[in-house]
Amino acid sequence: MTKIGVLASGFGSNLQALIDASGKEDFDGEIVVVISDNPQSYALKRAEKHNINAECVQLTDFASKDDFYNEIIHILDKHDVELVLLAGFMRIVNKKMVDKYYGRMINIHPALLPSFKGLNGVKQAFEYGVKVTGVTVHFVDDKVDTGPIILQDIVWITEEDTIKTIENRIHLIEHRLFPEAVKLFIDNRLAIDGRIVHIKTEGK
Ligand code: GRF
Repeated sequence: MTKIGVLASGFGSNLQALIDASGKEDFDGEIVVVISDNPQSYALKRAEKHNINAECVQLTDFASKDDFYNEIIHILDKHDVELVLLAGFMRIVNKKMVDKYYGRMINIHPALLPSFKGLNGVKQAFEYGVKVTGVTVHFVDDKVDTGPIILQDIVWITEEDTIKTIENRIHLIEHRLFPEAVKLFIDNRLAIDGRIVHIKTEGK
């Protein structure tokens, strides 16, 4: 069983999709801790409902960002976390986190990277006028939304769309794609080769 730690700041719908996936028989991973930087995050409630350790770590309680991340690392270590998932974690992780978890820290982004990095990926795509956007699941490296890409899927944008309707379709894809990428990791099917993530055939 791969021990998973999830970092989330907001509503936690991706966390929920991961919790649901982890209940399936062929999913060899367990979410052992959920950490949020936001005491209002519904992700904490979702964790509690499913008897998963929930910890709130607020930046304002620490003298520096490094101290804040040291506490997060301490909690992840305490739970022997092997895989870290950023599920709507609205902060840029520090170098120590990236160094410690490179190749085992995964983020989900609501756009087709390398387009529309950073905040409000859906709004950025809509306002740019692209006809197709999507979702990217990628390993985290030392810059924002630049790490090696594991999986992507697309969402077409039509004349009738608003940011909200696109967002709804993006979420549906996220909730399928994130657990799928995590399962590939757990089943040892991902190999990072520079920027390229190779997906090995099952059973090889
Ligand atoms: C998702 O759209 C994710 O791609 C982005 O933040 C959002 C989090 O949503 N990084 P939720 O908290 O999982 O509902």
